[in-house]
Amino acid sequence: MRTVAIPRFGEPEVLALMHQPDPVPGPREVAIDVAYAGVNYAEILFRQGIAPDLPLPFVPGIEAAGTVRAVGEQVAGFRIGQPVAALTIAQGGGYAEIATVPAHLVFPLDAGRTVNPDLVSAAAAPSNVTTAYLIMSEVARIRPGETVLVHAAAGGVGSAIGQMARKFGAGRVIGTVGSADKIEYARQFGYDDIVLRDRFAEQVRELTGGSGVDIVVDPVGGTTRRASLPLLKPFGRLVAMGNASGADDVAQSTNELWLSSRAVLGFNLQQLTAHDPDRVSQAAREALRLVADGEIKVDVTDMLRLEEAPEAHRRLQAGITKGKLVLAVRP
Ligand SMILES: NC(=O)c1ccc[n+]([C@@H]2O[C@H](COP(=O)([O-])OP(=O)(O)OC[C@H]3O[C@@H](n4cnc5c(N)ncnc54)[C@H](OP(=O)(O)O)[C@@H]3O)[C@@H](O)[C@H]2O)c1
Repeated sequence: MRTVAIPRFGEPEVLALMHQPDPVPGPREVAIDVAYAGVNYAEILFRQGIAPDLPLPFVPGIEAAGTVRAVGEQVAGFRIGQPVAALTIAQGGGYAEIATVPAHLVFPLDAGRTVNPDLVSAAAAPSNVTTAYLIMSEVARIRPGETVLVHAAAGGVGSAIGQMARKFGAGRVIGTVGSADKIEYARQFGYDDIVLRDRFAEQVRELTGGSGVDIVVDPVGGTTRRASLPLLKPFGRLVAMGNASGADDVAQSTNELWLSSRAVLGFNLQQLTAHDPDRVSQAAREALRLVADGEIKVDVTDMLRLEEAPEAHRRLQAGITKGKLVLAVRP
């Protein structure tokens, strides 16, 4: 099979098209003929060497969609050729013609519906929509009427979080974007207001009449995170969930949290998948149901071929993309 792999850590150019033996599923795995693979910031981090002990060459790719090719001997409930989405987050492997995935992270797309989600949206949904679902339901534990601030609102995960906040009953959802060309685009994802990030704190104060917000979801980090904390109301929660800015970590005094009745929380889908796979499986099922029912929209704005993965990484890393990028593997 053809894969795109990371033979050594580095810039997008290191990603290399490779031929590897066709994998067979282990006893509890499903092998999938991958039609499309979602592209995520996480794959850039792996390529850059965030996990230095990763055995190389490593095939990145934390989500994919396609059809069932084969099932392991202990797996029930799938049939060959069935359309499925998968979270390939446990061991990577989405950037490949065949992915082998633990069965509990493979999700049928034809479960009793008249219209099934298309494979392109299905490849772009598992990571971000599950993340958005878990952040709202389990991490920030949003209550109806609360005000939510989401950074990088036009991005892959930001576009899912705005809609999920709305779905969970947010009273007001404010998003930030890094450039003016993303303002109109981001509005479609459940946001009441979209502001430019370079002076977001001032604008959020104005928009909320000085009262601030209940929840901040921050995939950007650095100065954005630092400027967000003072915007939290008492009982406010900031969810740290990424560092797309590449900035140094932001230290937070726990005494300050005590004195201001605020909380800082973290979320990482890959770590949670390793430690509580059933919880992730359940959340992903619910997330994909929301996509299938049209309650959460996944907007794929850019599709490249598998061998164009370096260009996909360049675009995502440059911060210029909107919505989701997908690789056409065997469409
Ligand atoms: N914790 C988890 O489980 C989890 C799950 C999904 C994603 N994430 C994290 O969430 C972040 C977004 O992931 P994504 O795949 O959805 O990507 P994305 O949001 O589609 O793209 C990244 C966005 O980050 C913003 N950004 C800010 N500073 C940047 C910089 N210096 N360079 C590049 N981009 C910059 C840009 O939006 P603006 O133009 O608005 O600045 C850019 O479009 C990543 O940090 C990722 O690791 C974490």
